[in-house]
Order: sequence, then structure tokens, then C-alpha cells
Amino acid sequence: MRASSIATTLLLWAGAVSAKQCSYGDDPKIIAHTGTPVGTEIVVTNSTLYVSEPKCKKPKIGVLYLTDAFSIQFVNNKLLADSFARAGYLTVAPDMFNNDPAPFDLATPGFNATEWTLRHNPTAIHPILAKGVAYLRSKGVSKVVAAGYCFGGRYAFRMLAAGMGVDAGFSAHPSLLEDSEILAVTKPISLAAAEIDAMMPPARKTAIEGLLSTQVAQPYQVSLYGGTSHGFGVRANISDPEQKFGKEAAFYQAVRWFDAWAGGAL
Ligand SMILES: *[C@@H]1O[C@H](CO)[C@@H](O)[C@H](O)[C@H]1NC(C)=O
Ligand SMILES: *[C@@H]1O[C@H](CO)[C@@H](O)[C@H](O)[C@H]1NC(C)=O
Ligand SMILES: *[C@@H]1O[C@H](CO)[C@@H](O)[C@H](O)[C@H]1NC(C)=O
Repeated sequence: MRASSIATTLLLWAGAVSAKQCSYGDDPKIIAHTGTPVGTEIVVTNSTLYVSEPKCKKPKIGVLYLTDAFSIQFVNNKLLADSFARAGYLTVAPDMFNNDPAPFDLATPGFNATEWTLRHNPTAIHPILAKGVAYLRSKGVSKVVAAGYCFGGRYAFRMLAAGMGVDAGFSAHPSLLEDSEILAVTKPISLAAAEIDAMMPPARKTAIEGLLSTQVAQPYQVSLYGGTSHGFGVRANISDPEQKFGKEAAFYQAVRWFDAWAGGAL
């Protein structure tokens, strides 16, 4: 082979690598449970957005990542947002509480959970989430989907109400989810449930399934992960095989759902 054709071959090979498709499906390399986040924080009109971009392609779908009560100050949320980026989505996690996350220990002296929840109400939070949606649209994605966990899981439903501009939703172990929010969805919704969850005990989960099957016209999915408890989608104990499986499978559940109902990431 002549030197020039070797060079051409190498260039073609390099081109093929840089145009490589994102990892997909149940590729375990997509999910980072530990490590250093790879995204960046930007500030948009007084709100901080954590942004993580796919390195493998120009994204067609944007993920609005809706955190638990620990927000983007909790590294696991950034790592999971990065994992969505590795799956091919432009991902934005707004700081839903404006640098006022709940402490891990809700019994922390001086912390009043009732007062905190009243302060971070839908009227305060929706304008912050709207900045995340606007950012994704400004980057040229054609579809926006929402992935929410615990506190943010309720907002994954709320962002599927008419006029919110979100095309499909995934909600893991939602907190404080109300019937009216389930009945208001106008787009497909996928739900991941924990075995042990005071926010969604078995009777409540059955009631939610009843609403989805009889009163919601949209495609829906409910998956129960054995051996898990509330928060597992973000905070699973990775040393526990059932919890590790649950966290990973719930992530792939979200990715499969977005690709099925928002046009595919690839
Ligand atoms: C941003 O915060 C500053 C200081 O609190 C306030 O004066 C300003 O009105 C805020 N701007 C917007 C667009 O919310
Ligand atoms: C917590 O906040 C709620 C609502 O503002 C209030 O009614 C309650 O008394 C507070 N609890 C404590 C222990 O301060
Ligand atoms: C995590 O799971 C492992 C394996 O089941 C267990 O030994 C360990 O105590 C757990 N850690 C916590 C913090 O619960």
C-alpha cells in the first residue's frame, strides 16, 4: 500500500470514529455511578442549569433532567445527566431550588421540610424549568423529553400537561404526585416504581395504574423493581446487586421510552 493511500485509510478510519453512533440500549458503558461530572454549569437569568452534551453526535432530542430534592449540588444527579448525554441526548438539569437543596438528613437542625416544600412550589419551580426547555430548543433539538426522580418525578408528569412543550416523560419513584397531574398528561409517560416507597406504597401504585389504564389516553408504562427503595434511580447502593440492576434498568427504561415516543436518539 502506498503511503498516500495508507494516510487516506487512516483519515477515513478517523472520520468513521468521530461520526460513531452513541452507545445505546443496555450498553453498561453509558452509565456512570461514580466519578467526576463532565458537564458544565451555566447561568440563564438568575437560574443555574447543568448542561451535559453528547460527544458522539449532534443531538435531536433534549432531556430536561428533573432532580430529586438534592438538586445539582448532589453529584449523582450530575452523573446521571451525563449518562443521558452519553446515550445521545443534549441534557439540561436546572437547579430547581435556586441553590437551596434539601439536606440528606431531613432531621438536620433548622431544616423544616414542610416550610421547604411550601417555598419550592410549582409557581416557583415552573419558570426555572421553562428556562431549561428554552435552552434545549435554542440548541436546535426537535423534541424535548423529561426525566424526573423523586421530587422531580412529579414534575415529569406536570411537564406533560398541555402547552408545556415536552414530548414524552419518564418518572422514577415520584413524590407528592397528585391524581390531577396524572389525568392532565397529554404525552406518553413511563413510570419506574420502587418496592419500598412511602411516597408510592403498593395501594397508591395500584391506584395510579388504574388511572393510567382507564383515564389516560396516552401510551404508558409502569415497571416495578424488586429489592429497591425510594430514590433508587439516583441513589441505589451499587454494591447491592438488586439495587444496581434496578438503577440501571430504570435508566434504560427511560432511554427506550424516549426513543420509542420522541423519535429516536440515533
Ligand atoms: C436577578 O436577580 C437580581 C438580584 O436578585 C434581580 O434584581 C433581578 O431582577 C433578577 N433578574 C431576573 C431576570 O429575574
Ligand atoms: C415548619 O413550617 C410549617 C409551615 O410554615 C409550620 O407550620 C411549622 O410550625 C414549622 N415547624 C417547626 C418545627 O418549626
Ligand atoms: C450496600 O450493599 C451492600 C451489599 O448488600 C451492603 O453490605 C452495605 O451495607 C450496603 N451499604 C449501605 C450504606 O447500606
